[in-house]
Amino acid sequence: MIIAANLKTNLTRKQTEIYVNELEDYVSKHTISQEVLVFPAASSLNPHAGKVIIGAQNAYATHNGAFTGEIGLDHLEEFSIKTILIGHSERRHVLGETQEALVKKFNFYKDLGFKIVYCVGEPLEMREAGKETMMEYISSQYEGIDTSYENLIIAYEPVWAIGTGLIPTLENIEEIHTDLKEKSIAPLLYGGSVKVTNAKEVLALRNVDGILVGSAALYSEHFCSMIQYAEDLN
Ligand code: PGA
Repeated sequence: MIIAANLKTNLTRKQTEIYVNELEDYVSKHTISQEVLVFPAASSLNPHAGKVIIGAQNAYATHNGAFTGEIGLDHLEEFSIKTILIGHSERRHVLGETQEALVKKFNFYKDLGFKIVYCVGEPLEMREAGKETMMEYISSQYEGIDTSYENLIIAYEPVWAIGTGLIPTLENIEEIHTDLKEKSIAPLLYGGSVKVTNAKEVLALRNVDGILVGSAALYSEHFCSMIQYAEDLN
């Protein structure tokens, strides 16, 4: 399974280093065979050797250039980063990234062979509009994306469940994951208010290949417990 931590705009470089080392210690001490990914803030990236894979939360589709506020491939290569998160709801809905911009980014990093965690998920009004409308909306987030890309991981994250403590029912997660698996056989993670208290049940669902965790992952002990749940289930 794939257990991923999105640290968002949290943890300084020093804090991230301590955090990643704690995870690394846990993973080696408990001979964890799950894939553990961590996405620190851009300014907290560091070279890292070990089992924990460090990825970027975002990068522009460029090697370098005049794109104020962005980082490019050169910056990722400095830290040997080969994994990137694309399409997170905060990038889509708070920072206004369009599907077209995401596709450009996707193709650029795909051509470089990056492991891509690509996020999809509906806002509350789409869910409330009924299943058909909701699935159409989610389908539109697959447009232009090579769903058979070998290094693709998809994360289903309902926007209304991110950082809110709200989560779909287990039956509902399983149903949507089963539908989404028809679009791509890529590993499919669930994300949105996954906590140490519900991670075990979510991980046990059919067609859930892992989790993408935000706030609850900020505590390394909690995140390590979730890694352990995945290991025990496997
Ligand atoms: P959350 O965030 O776990 O805090 O809900 C998940 C995410 O944004 O990936």
